[in-house]
Amino acid sequence: MSQSVSAAASGQFKIGGDLPVNRLGYGAMRITGKGIWGEPADPAAARATLARLPELGINFIDTADSYGPFVSEDLIREVLHPYSGLVIATKGGLTRHGPDIWAPLGRPEYLRQCVLMSLRRLRLERIDLWQLHRIDPKVPRDEQFEVIAQMQREGLIRHVGLSEVAVADIEAAQKFFPVVTVQNRYNLVDRTSEAVLDYCEQNGIGFIPWYPLAAGDLAKPGSVLSQIAERHGVKNGAVALAWLLKRAKVMLPIPGTGSVQHLIENVAGAGLALDDAEFAELDRQGRKAG
Ligand SMILES: NC(=O)c1ccc[n+]([C@@H]2O[C@H](COP(=O)([O-])OP(=O)(O)OC[C@H]3O[C@@H](n4cnc5c(N)ncnc54)[C@H](OP(=O)(O)O)[C@@H]3O)[C@@H](O)[C@H]2O)c1
Repeated sequence: MSQSVSAAASGQFKIGGDLPVNRLGYGAMRITGKGIWGEPADPAAARATLARLPELGINFIDTADSYGPFVSEDLIREVLHPYSGLVIATKGGLTRHGPDIWAPLGRPEYLRQCVLMSLRRLRLERIDLWQLHRIDPKVPRDEQFEVIAQMQREGLIRHVGLSEVAVADIEAAQKFFPVVTVQNRYNLVDRTSEAVLDYCEQNGIGFIPWYPLAAGDLAKPGSVLSQIAERHGVKNGAVALAWLLKRAKVMLPIPGTGSVQHLIENVAGAGLALDDAEFAELDRQGRKAG
């Protein structure tokens, strides 16, 4: 596969109308330990992966204070600060109590701490895109939205996004601040958030599908997806990403990896133009498999 692939081939999206990024981004959750806990098994590979992002045209990096926790943000600062031309999007609002354990905490004083500590770890004066990782069901959502709006007014946050939300949550949050992105699980075989994606498309809100590479049985040898991949000379993941990019102009996939080789394979999806028949067949099979 050519090493000259570039995320620029995915086209641009302006987050919040004024923050242009190449639509194919990078998710920095996988540069941590097992269970998204602690240091990565291969720290040199994780650093090398981050270091390759700019030359591969990736200028949109998604992370969270809870990845590690802190490990992902620390590595991003160490390798990429001062982030020339890069948009670092982070999240807060989840606490960690061990591998694979995540607990929402949306008390206003905690959300403020999340933002202040991400600013310190990333060594930034303002976070370009800060996302509420989860709305805490134990705290009135308006209290969570209000403190976020305050931090935006104070200039700590430039743009605000939400994660794992329904249309009603987005509309409730819009009373406090413009919601510029939504990050929900979405891929070829998990279409639960189809209505949220449609809403984002209609309102020019960036939609960041997490777990974008998942294709379940569709990725089996001999499947339509692998036949399409073979035809185009790319790996299955690139086809899954190309399908997402064609699905909506507001789509901003953030595939994650701790391997340079996988990163290059994934970036090939940015320049892969599926024809309408390929798109429709993958769509049909994905809906059936989901
Ligand atoms: N908002 C939320 O609640 C939420 C939840 C989960 C994730 N996220 C975000 O979404 C991003 C992506 O989600 P995700 O990491 O769960 O899913 P993903 O990007 O679809 O898949 C990542 C997995 O696929 C493997 N992989 C990547 N490229 C590959 C390739 N070319 N060939 C073979 N395997 C490959 C990675 O392992 P290797 O490291 O070995 O490549 C990793 O195990 C995360 O990094 C994070 O930023 C957000």
